[in-house]
Amino acid sequence: MAEISINFAGIKSPNPYWLASAPPTNTGYQVQRAFEAGWGGAVWKTLCEPVLNVTSRFGAHHFNGQRVAGFNNIELVSDRPIEENLKEIYETKKLFPDHPIIASVMVEPERDKWHEIIKRVQDVGVDGFELNLGCPHGMSERGMGAAVGQHPDLVEKSTLYAKEVAEVPVITKLTPNITDITATARAAERGGADAISMINTINSLIGVDIDTWNPTPNVNGKAAHGGYCGPAVKPIALNMVGECARQPDINIPISGIGGISTWQDTIEFMLMGSGGVQVCTAAMHHGFSIIDDLTEGLSNYLDDKGIDSVEELVGKSVEKYSDWSDLDLNHQTVARINNDICINCNKCHIACEDTAHQCIDMLVDENGNDYLQVREDECVGCNLCSIVCPVEGAIDMIDLKPTEPPMSWNNRQAALQVMNSK
Ligand SMILES: Cc1cc2nc3c(=O)[nH]c(=O)nc-3n(C[C@H](O)[C@H](O)[C@H](O)COP(=O)(O)O)c2cc1C
Ligand code: SF4
Ligand code: SF4
Repeated sequence: MAEISINFAGIKSPNPYWLASAPPTNTGYQVQRAFEAGWGGAVWKTLCEPVLNVTSRFGAHHFNGQRVAGFNNIELVSDRPIEENLKEIYETKKLFPDHPIIASVMVEPERDKWHEIIKRVQDVGVDGFELNLGCPHGMSERGMGAAVGQHPDLVEKSTLYAKEVAEVPVITKLTPNITDITATARAAERGGADAISMINTINSLIGVDIDTWNPTPNVNGKAAHGGYCGPAVKPIALNMVGECARQPDINIPISGIGGISTWQDTIEFMLMGSGGVQVCTAAMHHGFSIIDDLTEGLSNYLDDKGIDSVEELVGKSVEKYSDWSDLDLNHQTVARINNDICINCNKCHIACEDTAHQCIDMLVDENGNDYLQVREDECVGCNLCSIVCPVEGAIDMIDLKPTEPPMSWNNRQAALQVMNSK
């Protein structure tokens, strides 16, 4: 059986699955139950003061029959006193010495405040810290969380202050509410972070009740923007992980977070450069027992592929993630319809006709049966027809044999420059 334990920035964990800092890690009772269920580690719900919250505080985006395609919250950090949390961290650590507990902490970007919180928390024996520089609501209005995480200089300073006194690894958790996450990732590394984690939640308004006209979730008829997470944010998170992982000057491990619900998601995040992953919404939606599927699926995948350790996956797709200007302009893909499987629903024809390149013909065979055929010399291989097709396998996207050598935009510009210089 393949090895699924990891060593993330010096923090050993029996598997790559940590519960993200959020409601599932709010108490010792919950974290102990999670460890019993098989979760590798836990990032404790952010410790901070003062203790505050509103009701209600969650909203969900249900899409087309799927519950919780996206999730939104206006919850703040832990609403239990720090001392109570510390006592439970200590007890939980004693009961589960092999499962890492990472303390998530948040204060204003001031040296004294970071020193005080780090020293106070590390006495109970945490395995690492995660600096919450990403909470986008409530805390940011008070100069913490995303208000810090949006400024590279404050990210660097906060990380540096934490590192000055931390005796265990420090992970800087980044906000996605920023134009270029690589700027804050670099700042964290400059500040001495042992690792970065991403993403925290994305600014969002989940919806408006069209009867009461109240935005959701509402607090006595009023609302505020919240943070978005869950399956809907996975592509955004995966890109941010990949963008950081492919920068030659960012050389610290990444803990991937955002929409991870299946073992397949985990593998994608690890291939794109995550040394481990964190999960919140999927655990809130389905409970701690999903860890069985997550670990079993991962283990079976590694065995099927003949890979000895999950750590071998980390970053394997990163070199394939590049800039548009490096892509081969001469590569050609076309759609091909399998008429044996096609149910003639016509969705592909409509999609191509209305919004793509008008190259799917409606034809009639010698027996008088309707069928569809792609005019391949006009197909641009955009994928749209295969995306809208409801029948698995009815449309294949085929890579054509190259007729010209590869030529990217960069190659083309370089060739032009040589020609012009002659
Ligand atoms: C209700 C709720 C509360 C959260 N509280 C915190 C928090 O206290 N500290 C923190 O760093 N992140 C917090 N998060 C963000 C998660 O740790 C995580 O970054 C985010 O939910 C994305 O992961 P997911 O898509 O698996 O949910 C919270 C998320 C939710 C849904
Ligand atoms: S891949 Fe795009 S252009 Fe080609 S047939 Fe499908 S929709 Fe039309
Ligand atoms: S969308 Fe798929 S099933 Fe429907 S007509 Fe096109 S190929 Fe056939």
